[in-house]
Amino acid sequence: MWKDIHILLLGEPKVGKTSLILSLVGEEFPEDVPDRVEEITIPGDVTPEKVPTHIVDFSEKEQGEYQLCEEIAKANVVCLVYDLADLTTLEKIKERWMPLIKDCSMHESMLPIILVGNKSDLISDSKMYEVIPIMNDFPEIETCIECSSKTLNNVSEMFFFAQKAVLYPTAPLYSPQDGD
Ligand code: GTP
Ligand code: MG
Repeated sequence: MWKDIHILLLGEPKVGKTSLILSLVGEEFPEDVPDRVEEITIPGDVTPEKVPTHIVDFSEKEQGEYQLCEEIAKANVVCLVYDLADLTTLEKIKERWMPLIKDCSMHESMLPIILVGNKSDLISDSKMYEVIPIMNDFPEIETCIECSSKTLNNVSEMFFFAQKAVLYPTAPLYSPQDGD
């Protein structure tokens, strides 16, 4: 059914969006990262779901609000990245990024979101409990994952979750108004 999938990475500056993309494609942590990488296409035959996948980076340094809105409108799924060692970046997901995505999204059905806590190498215990209230507030958040582009922990899983959110959406079936 899907010809290809567009995954967009968003989140506050320095949370590790570009590092995550480069870790996935290079299978090692990049020591020097540019602000932004060009769109990367992963051919269908090397993805678990056999669908060509485009991965799109965003950098506030290089791109403005207009471009941001354009990218959101093109995306099939957004990975919202925050820094596990700096939870103000998680606050911004709630206060800034979720409303912004809603404003720019052209989709009639919900644009699925994956919450990605990066830099898990810098913390000793999971911070998942911080994410649960945000997931409860926004049904379009499909799932959450903690990962590290430095150790590569859960990096390929994160992109797999994003693909799955597009191919097997669950959010539109769930309506908080239904009461169950
Ligand atoms: P902008 O392009 O400015 O929006 O930032 P970004 O979100 O693309 O972050 P970037 O990939 O440039 O990473 C920012 C800094 O965090 C760099 O110094 C990275 O080396 C570092 N970093 C990224 N991922 C990790 C990680 O998993 N663990 C640790 N310890 N550092 C990381
Ligand atoms: Mg970047």
